[in-house]
Amino acid sequence: MTTVPELERVLFTKQQIAARIKEVAAEISDRYAGKDLKLVGVLKGSVFFLTALAREITIPVKIDFLSLSSFTNMARSPGYVRIAKDLDEGIEGEDVLIVEDIVDTGLTLRYLLQTLAGRGPNSIGIVTLLDRTERRLAQVPVEYRCFEIPDRFVVGFGLDYKQHYRNLEYIAVMKPEK
Ligand code: PRP
Repeated sequence: MTTVPELERVLFTKQQIAARIKEVAAEISDRYAGKDLKLVGVLKGSVFFLTALAREITIPVKIDFLSLSSFTNMARSPGYVRIAKDLDEGIEGEDVLIVEDIVDTGLTLRYLLQTLAGRGPNSIGIVTLLDRTERRLAQVPVEYRCFEIPDRFVVGFGLDYKQHYRNLEYIAVMKPEK
């Protein structure tokens, strides 16, 4: 395992993540059997989780991606986001499962749920690798979560610090900045 000095401790190992993803994929495979399931990944963090999850899902599945930009200037309310790269295809009549690496405030998902609901999907659900509920501002229905985590900065398995560490196979807590 790569050791990185900026990291305080490993929160979930590669093996723990793989085992939990397999469990969640089995639940999703049961729930969506016979449906037209599409996984929608929110770039960039969810890419690692989405590919791992999709490989463990045992029913036919389509995938698509979008990316969001957030506005942080004072004229906008916190958490105001817009679509920077939209889905390649429509979702009308499909059973959409939004795939996230982490849900924090829930503001990103609140916006996404509202936006995608207007496109006529049969259903929209949420699956996330990590859920940091202590930071929640908007209540969003998270149907599937792999792990709930404390209010600490974590990296790995898609999650970054200044765009680094996404490729770690484990999830770790960063040391507090001095
Ligand atoms: C993360 C994550 C969610 C969002 C969650 O993305 O992937 O999209 O933040 O935060 P919220 O619940 O407070 O809205 P980030 O902006 O870090 O982009 P990235 O996926 O490219 O790292």
